Amino acid sequence: MIPVITIDGPSGAGKGTIAQMLAIELNWNILDSGALYRTLAYFMKENSIGIENFEENHNMLKTRFKVSFDPGTPGEPVRVLFENQDITSIVRTERMAQLTSDLAAEPTIREFIKPCQREFMTPPGLIADGRDMGTVIFPDAKHKIFLTASAEERAKRRQTQLKRQGLEVNMRSLLLELEERDRKDTDREHSPLVPADDSITIDTTNLDPEGVVREIKNNL
Ligand code: DC
Repeated sequence: MIPVITIDGPSGAGKGTIAQMLAIELNWNILDSGALYRTLAYFMKENSIGIENFEENHNMLKTRFKVSFDPGTPGEPVRVLFENQDITSIVRTERMAQLTSDLAAEPTIREFIKPCQREFMTPPGLIADGRDMGTVIFPDAKHKIFLTASAEERAKRRQTQLKRQGLEVNMRSLLLELEERDRKDTDREHSPLVPADDSITIDTTNLDPEGVVREIKNNL
């Protein structure tokens, strides 16, 4: 059995940073499922595919939708590679997050992405970051972590992240957008954002990344 650690939680709870640190330390594969959804949203937009004509493009999407991740360097986002291109900065924008949040509520999209996510489970192990990794995609994962943090702290982290990419964003609108996205992710009918029954919840509001990793490792 290939070991899997799932890391679920809302935006800005620290999933990306923690998943990256664990993947580098353990030398395991990484699945950034949010980036997978973002890449699909980007690809669909580029090819003028909407939810209404998704089925008729299903085969083309199946053939061409091959994404890979590079954990990259700590402090930098996990790199997203698609069709021989590094599309990290293209997909990691607030505009793309907004678009993705709507798309991710569609059952057709979730079904399409399900097998793509499971393909990442290869030796020596997988760190899977998302919203439904422990509940739906890898229900048999041995270790399930649910990260949370206050909305204010999460918005602050997002702002720092975007600043690093050279993007200036207003804190208030960031907080509103984040809360709106939380609501959509939590209230949706399919695979809502909820902790798995057998997960460990860690509130990261007052913890630094090293502290979170320490706590996770204490629970492994
Ligand atoms: O983690 P993120 O911000 O990159 O995720 C982008 C969007 O995708 C977000 O609105 C939630 C959605 N998502 C999801 O529904 N299920 C996942 N497993 C991962 C992300």
